[in-house]
Amino acid sequence: MKITVSEKKTEYEVVIGKGLLSSFGERFSVSGKTLIVSDDGVPQKYAEEVAKGLKSVYKFVIPQGEGSKNLKNFSDVLAFMLENGFERTDNVVAVGGGVVGDLAGFVAASYMRGVNFYNVPTTFLSEVDSSIGGKTAIDFCGVKNSVGAFYPPKGVLIDTDTLKTLGKRQLSSGIAESVKMAATFDKELFSLLENTDDFERDAEEIIRKSLEIKKRVVENDLKEQGLRRALNFGHTVGHAIESACFPRLLHGECVALGMLVFSSEEVRERLLKVYKKYSLPTFADFSADGLLPFIEKDKKAAGDKINVVYCEEIGSFGFGKSTPREITDTVKEVFSK
Ligand SMILES: NC(=O)c1ccc[n+]([C@@H]2O[C@H](COP(=O)([O-])OP(=O)(O)OC[C@H]3O[C@@H](n4cnc5c(N)ncnc54)[C@H](O)[C@@H]3O)[C@@H](O)[C@H]2O)c1
Repeated sequence: MKITVSEKKTEYEVVIGKGLLSSFGERFSVSGKTLIVSDDGVPQKYAEEVAKGLKSVYKFVIPQGEGSKNLKNFSDVLAFMLENGFERTDNVVAVGGGVVGDLAGFVAASYMRGVNFYNVPTTFLSEVDSSIGGKTAIDFCGVKNSVGAFYPPKGVLIDTDTLKTLGKRQLSSGIAESVKMAATFDKELFSLLENTDDFERDAEEIIRKSLEIKKRVVENDLKEQGLRRALNFGHTVGHAIESACFPRLLHGECVALGMLVFSSEEVRERLLKVYKKYSLPTFADFSADGLLPFIEKDKKAAGDKINVVYCEEIGSFGFGKSTPREITDTVKEVFSK
């Protein structure tokens, strides 16, 4: 199954299927030196499979976790490439989740002003979301994704077999991003998520449909305006919950909770059923007032009001503006029921 994405005047293919890893080199006609960047939580057999079809392979493994998206690792990977004589025409391949993809993508964007970048995402979140769209970044001075570049990959290979080793919570957290896209853009995808009785069988279809949504958004709107803002559904409150509850909850779990706040009764009911199905949280131990300082810091603030995305009906979205206090009042109302 293939999707072609056009971004920044370039086109790239996203290939989705099972047992694809070892076909990577041939599929994308990769030549020259290749640096595979992975982390120590990603089963190393995935990088080994990807390396099979390549001639001159180097590997760089960073520690797993968000803390690795830092300047030190960025610099260390660049230094490793210089030491090993990488040139402008060589390649960087990310084999891992969004952390590896964001860091390796930024390395690829920066080394010699840009080498070929490929993404082999291995978490559900990176397979449905972060592997396309061209955003690469590291966290800097305590601010997430504050330094980075828009740098589309040359190709993306999604092997759904990699999901077999992913922890259940990580899987569900990624599913929350798919639920978000379905709720705002695609009622059929939402029904599929609601009704599938065999997630492993339907994963490819769910990933494809989610990526079709992200592709539509990205192609229409590369730099975080309009449609792309709709992808922030659940994120205003979600980010605040993530900060307030750190490190107890995963990003997708917080987004799931955040989505409940800007949904109609009817949408909320359907969301709650889906959360139960995928073991996503339906409530968490935080105080609405405790979220206020985090919501006030929200980067989407416009004057004293914050841009919010809401969902009245599955498959649609709307934009609004609320004050931080209005938002926490809604949080109280929703979670007191
Ligand atoms: N660039 C974008 O557009 C974009 C979009 C959304 C999120 N992100 C970024 O993505 C990051 C989160 O990504 P994530 O949720 O993939 O987390 P992650 O990359 O931290 O991966 C989660 C964990 O799963 C492990 N793992 C990865 N693949 C595995 C597999 N197949 N089997 C077993 N374990 C595996 C990793 O080692 C890690 O411990 C954040 O830094 C976020 O900012 C980027």
